[in-house]
Amino acid sequence: MYQRKLGKSGLEVSEIGLGCWQLGNDFGAIEENVALDILTTAYQQGVTFFDTADVYGAGLSEERIGQWRKTLDTPPIIATKVGRNPNLYPDGYTKAAVKESLANSAKRLGVEAIDLAQLHCVPRDVLFAGDIIAWMEDLQQEGLIKHFGASVEMLDEALFCCNSKALTSLQILFNVFRQDATTELFPAAEQNEVGIIVRLPLASGLLSGKMTKTRSFEQGDHRNYNRDGAAFHVGETFNGIPYELGVDLAEQAKTILPEGMDLVDVALRWILDHPQISSVIAGTTKAEQVMRNTQASALPPLSVELHQALAEFYKLHVRQHIRGGI
Ligand SMILES: NC(=O)c1ccc[n+]([C@@H]2O[C@H](COP(=O)([O-])OP(=O)(O)OC[C@H]3O[C@@H](n4cnc5c(N)ncnc54)[C@H](OP(=O)(O)O)[C@@H]3O)[C@@H](O)[C@H]2O)c1
Repeated sequence: MYQRKLGKSGLEVSEIGLGCWQLGNDFGAIEENVALDILTTAYQQGVTFFDTADVYGAGLSEERIGQWRKTLDTPPIIATKVGRNPNLYPDGYTKAAVKESLANSAKRLGVEAIDLAQLHCVPRDVLFAGDIIAWMEDLQQEGLIKHFGASVEMLDEALFCCNSKALTSLQILFNVFRQDATTELFPAAEQNEVGIIVRLPLASGLLSGKMTKTRSFEQGDHRNYNRDGAAFHVGETFNGIPYELGVDLAEQAKTILPEGMDLVDVALRWILDHPQISSVIAGTTKAEQVMRNTQASALPPLSVELHQALAEFYKLHVRQHIRGGI
């Protein structure tokens, strides 16, 4: 597993990380032993970067990671998020409340200081006002967090964060079905040494190439209840693309791949081919998926022709169907 720099933090992280939203049972229920198997498999495959949040399963994801972390001699880097729990969202943002939320995360994770704390899609006005970034700087000084970054939905929010010198990392939506970050954002991130963390690399599973129109999702799975953005930002579920159309687009995308290449490998490798990326946090509900996803690190870069074909496909067939803005 190759490692990459995490922005200006001085840390190195595995280029394939593990997204742990699933461990909060928000993609259907995952048994304790399966959760442990996912974490252990990732670690054994060389994953040193794990992404979670206080709200994933109302703390369950952090608790599971914290319990597992205790068993390790060399713990990996664990990033969590703050900003969407009911004490803060939508209008309870104060320094004291942010501090309390982070202290609770640290307790669940079993750490004194959080490796990387990310603002979790806080409302635009809260982000742009800037106070919350200053609070994070204070909390870093106080030692509750070692580094901080932000997870955002829109490209203008991402650019704003990149231009704030204090941020170590920026978490964005970026995948074969959402390519716009390459033009303006990546150069800014590079210039300001902000490490990009990529979420939804498989567009909630669409880019695994295995989804069918008849697949149903459990009631507690956001791919059921947030399919059209009823609970939170529509872009976080299937990348904002209506599900049935997304299945068709994934099938079409397969037809432009060279023989013998699978969409899931291409989708992950395509992201890794961008050097501004620090880590790709694919989420998984099964240890076999972790095995598969971690192998993308060892794959050769995609050809220039394939990159061009995927860029063309995105512009012509996908971009106009993304709901919720870019
Ligand atoms: N606002 C935010 O900050 C935010 C929002 C969303 C996500 N995140 C983070 O980003 C991580 C990744 O995003 P995500 O999990 O939503 O999307 P994703 O990584 O694009 O998709 C995950 C889903 O893809 C399927 N999958 C993964 N690997 C596979 C493989 N090898 N073969 C077949 N299917 C595979 C699984 O679906 P099945 O379950 O159907 O098997 C899995 O649940 C999350 O875990 C979370 O840590 C952050």
